[in-house]
Amino acid sequence: MEPSPSDFFEALERCARDAPETATQPDTVFKFVLAGPEGGAWLVDLTKGKRSRFVVKLLEAVSDCDQLADAGPQPAATLHLDAADWVAMTTGKMNPMRAFMSGKIKVDGDIKLAVNLPTVVNMVEGYGIGMQGPISIIRTGIENSVASLRRPLPSISPMPPRRTGAVPWLRAGRRLLRNPTAFFAECRAEMGDTFVVDAFGYRLFCVFSAAGVQSLWALPEEAASKALADLALLSHKVPIELFEGRRTFPHDLFAKDDVQAYLGNLKSAVDVELADLGDSGVIEAFAFTKCLAHRMGMASWGGKEAASPKYLPRLATLFDRLDMSESFVHPHKALLTIATRKARERAAMHEIEEIFGEILRGRSADVAPRTEEDLFDRICESWAHVPSPEREIGIARDVIVIHMGSQANLFAAMAWTLIFLLAQPDVMEAVRAGDDAILNPFSHEAIRMTQRSIVLRRVVTPIDFEHGNEIHHLPPGTLVTTMMSVTNTTAAPWLAKFDISNYRGSVFPRSRELAAPELVTTYGHGKHTCPAHRFSTSAITQAISELVRHFDLEPRYKDPNPRPRQLGGVARADRLCKIAYRRR
Ligand code: HEM
Repeated sequence: MEPSPSDFFEALERCARDAPETATQPDTVFKFVLAGPEGGAWLVDLTKGKRSRFVVKLLEAVSDCDQLADAGPQPAATLHLDAADWVAMTTGKMNPMRAFMSGKIKVDGDIKLAVNLPTVVNMVEGYGIGMQGPISIIRTGIENSVASLRRPLPSISPMPPRRTGAVPWLRAGRRLLRNPTAFFAECRAEMGDTFVVDAFGYRLFCVFSAAGVQSLWALPEEAASKALADLALLSHKVPIELFEGRRTFPHDLFAKDDVQAYLGNLKSAVDVELADLGDSGVIEAFAFTKCLAHRMGMASWGGKEAASPKYLPRLATLFDRLDMSESFVHPHKALLTIATRKARERAAMHEIEEIFGEILRGRSADVAPRTEEDLFDRICESWAHVPSPEREIGIARDVIVIHMGSQANLFAAMAWTLIFLLAQPDVMEAVRAGDDAILNPFSHEAIRMTQRSIVLRRVVTPIDFEHGNEIHHLPPGTLVTTMMSVTNTTAAPWLAKFDISNYRGSVFPRSRELAAPELVTTYGHGKHTCPAHRFSTSAITQAISELVRHFDLEPRYKDPNPRPRQLGGVARADRLCKIAYRRR
């Protein structure tokens, strides 16, 4: 007989009392509201320091009301799902990520906390999340693929003009991938600023008007989720277990007073990379900045060992294998990933875990006291009380996820800053004379011109999307979409050309001249603005200023443009951008 949800929560209470240190790792309060005959509502308090009464069964009347004053602490995240789905999930028969993505689980409150769910469930003997055997995984995979062909796309009302295609599932996908920026611009010219695109089993509700783009950026995460939209995309490329149980996020690393913690490491990373160049030679701008960004990233959040010659070359190759943006730039690589069921990516993930295991063993064997702290120490700290090998794996996976966030943009932003700088000798001379600050507006303008990020929010609860005089009812599963490359250079005629005076520092004061400030962006707007904005500007400034001060540079390319196929992130170039260099 299947266990009931009550059985699970009783077992959880017992385990938590037996091992309170482990049980309170999530350091938060969850509420579970499970629908159906076996359902009910439970408050699970896993805050640090707690030793008794971890689970409270709530009265039905309380379960439906937001005021839990009498029932103890307030939940940071409330999970709503069917009791039968909960049982299937906690006994390994249902993949939690898929349940999440298909809307079977709804989360109120801090959605990021839901990644702790496997940690909570796996703690209880006899239960487990994500523990499906290989046969059931294959069966579920086939069932899901067939179901996605049959599943009707969300029905938007009123339905705006629509771009679709004859081939099921693919629909308009092929045309979209050929040149996403041109595709959206053409759709807009034909159908206006609000339209629908059906592609790859998704329904994209696309907005490009000032009011539409403004409403998109204002959508609350609980109603239309960026995290779930990202997961849907990432799940095609990256082993999904990578995202379970993460403890350190980029938001935890780049607060204002953290600048000192990474500036010194960035400088050392640049020095090493420039020393490797020798006295003269030829680099390809994007290949060079890619190596540099790996080194700077590892030196910042991977620890100085990861940035050393012993580990960096291997790590760089493995990170490139996990790079999500690769599958956008080369769609055939995405097919290879699907065909091999992410075997190469999973192997890369495990190899990175082994490397970090070795680095951590080296650190604990080191008798000399460590003088300086880095961001990697902070990641390690959050795993301090977890036993091996989960600790080392957890640390490695935190590093991987942070590094993946950087890969889509940073190296290409550095390369374009360099390319635009080579076209403006007066600005280059200012940098050589010591004016580093000029690279702040300069890099922002370079990013604005080459940014190819597609902005996606996955509707979680039905919403009435109000924009200007229009309201569209959007059911769960709809992807509210816009693309930065379309608006960034067309929202006003003066945006078509690179002009450093558009920015003052990292501020875009001319946004007042636009129909909505949200029409132009480099690092995003609102709640999801890039947490690594300041870090990235520092990294670009350090790298480019040192390069141009130490070397004379001569471009060996002509008129590079952003690569037309690029979807997501700052674009690479449509040609090789070779640069001859000679030490000054
Ligand atoms: C020049 C470099 C970068 C650019 C232009 C850039 C751009 C952006 C943009 C436009 C967004 C918002 C996307 C949206 O709302 O849909 C974003 C979010 C994000 N970026 Fe960056 N990024 C850069 C570097 C980095 C680096 C180095 C990291 C990690 C170390 C990082 C991690 C993230 C994360 C985690 C988010 C999601 C934030 C959230 O959902 O709250 N980015 N970035």
